[in-house]
Amino acid sequence: MRTLKLALLGFGNAGRAFAKILEDKRPAIRETMGWDILVTGITTGSRGSLYAAEGLDLQKAWSELEEKGHFEQSNRAYSTMTSLELVETGEYDVIVEMTPLNIFTGEPASEHLRKAMERKKHAVTANKGPIAWHYKELKALAEKQGVQFYYETTVMDGTPIFNLKDETLRFCQVTEVSGILNTTTNFVLEELAKGKAYEDVLQEGKKLGFVEADPSMDIEGWDAAAKVTALLNVLMEADITPDQVERTGIEHITIEDIKAAEENGKVIKLLCQGTLEAGQVKASVQPTLVEKGSLLAAVEGTSSVVQITTDLMGKLTIIEHDPDLVQTGYGVFSDVLRVVKNFV
Ligand SMILES: NC(=O)c1ccc[n+]([C@@H]2O[C@H](COP(=O)([O-])OP(=O)(O)OC[C@H]3O[C@@H](n4cnc5c(N)ncnc54)[C@H](OP(=O)(O)O)[C@@H]3O)[C@@H](O)[C@H]2O)c1
Repeated sequence: MRTLKLALLGFGNAGRAFAKILEDKRPAIRETMGWDILVTGITTGSRGSLYAAEGLDLQKAWSELEEKGHFEQSNRAYSTMTSLELVETGEYDVIVEMTPLNIFTGEPASEHLRKAMERKKHAVTANKGPIAWHYKELKALAEKQGVQFYYETTVMDGTPIFNLKDETLRFCQVTEVSGILNTTTNFVLEELAKGKAYEDVLQEGKKLGFVEADPSMDIEGWDAAAKVTALLNVLMEADITPDQVERTGIEHITIEDIKAAEENGKVIKLLCQGTLEAGQVKASVQPTLVEKGSLLAAVEGTSSVVQITTDLMGKLTIIEHDPDLVQTGYGVFSDVLRVVKNFV
C-alpha cells in the first residue's frame, strides 16, 4: 500500500466538503487503487491548526469545527502553525489550497502554491486567485519542478472543464469561450424581472444566502471577471489578469431594460466572453441580451453554463445544475485522485 500525504490550507465549506468525501471513499481508494490518502496538516485563518505527520483524524477535525467553531487545544494534534509554516516545513506530498479568494491579488494563495512547488510538492487549488493572477508562472514552475498542478474546482466547482480539455480535447484549439458564471447576478436579474425593487432583491438574497454581505464584487462583475480570466488562461493560454477584462456589472440595469428585453423575446444575462482577435485573447463581462429559449437563457439561479468553441470539436455546452458543496468537495477530490493516478 502506498501512502499520499495531504496538507489542507483552509477548512471552511470547501475544505470540510472535501474531507467528508475523502473519508467516505478512503476504503475504496485503498482497495481499488492501492493507495492510502492521509491528511497530515490543516490550517485555518483564526480557528487554530492541526498537524500530525502520521495522519489526522479527519472526522474529529470537522466535528470540532462544526460543533465548537475552532479546533480544540486538548486535541493532541492541535498546533499554532501558520499556513506558510505548514507549507515550508510540514511533511506532505500535495498542498491543497482552499483559503478565501483575494480577487485583486490572488494572494496569499499563490505564495502558498509557489512555496510548496519549490519544495517539489504537488499542488491542488480550489481558490481561483492563483489561476486568474499567476497561472502562467505557476504552470511553468510546476513543469520546472516536475510536479502536478490541478485546479478543477476554481470555475463551476467540480464540473470537468479543465479535465475535459486536458484529457479528451487534446490538440483541439479553443477559439472562443462564453458563459454565465455568477450566481448572485443570475438571482438579482431574475428577481428584478418579477418587478421587485433592487434593494429588496439584495436584502432577500442575503437572507437566502445568494448575495454576500458586500455584494459589490458580484454585482460589479469582478467575480465573473476572475472566473473568465481563469478559464481563458487555461483553455486559451491567454496570460491575462482580471483587471484586463472589459467589465460592466449589472448595477445600472433597470426594470425598464428587463421589460424592453422581454418584449423582444430576450433576457438579460451577465455574459462572460473570450474571443481571439488578431491572435490576442479579448475578455469581457457584460450584461447581454440573449434569446429566450436558448441554452444561455435557460440557466437560472445557482446553475452555470460554459460554451467552448473549438477547431476540431465544434461548440460544446456544459451546464452545471443547482450545485451545492458536494460538487465543490468532489472537484478537489477528483484533482487529488489525478495526482495519485499520475504519481511517479
Ligand atoms: N464554497 C464553494 O462552493 C466554492 C466553490 C469553488 C471554489 N471555492 C473556493 O474555495 C476557497 C474556500 O472557499 P470556502 O467556501 O471554503 O470558504 P470559507 O467557508 O470562508 O472557508 C475559508 C477557510 O479558509 C480559512 N483561512 C482564512 N485565511 C487563511 C489562511 N491564511 N490560511 C489558512 N486558512 C485560512 C478560514 O479560516 P477562518 O474561518 O478561521 O477564517 C476557513 O477555514 C475559496 O477560494 C473559494 O473561492 C469555493
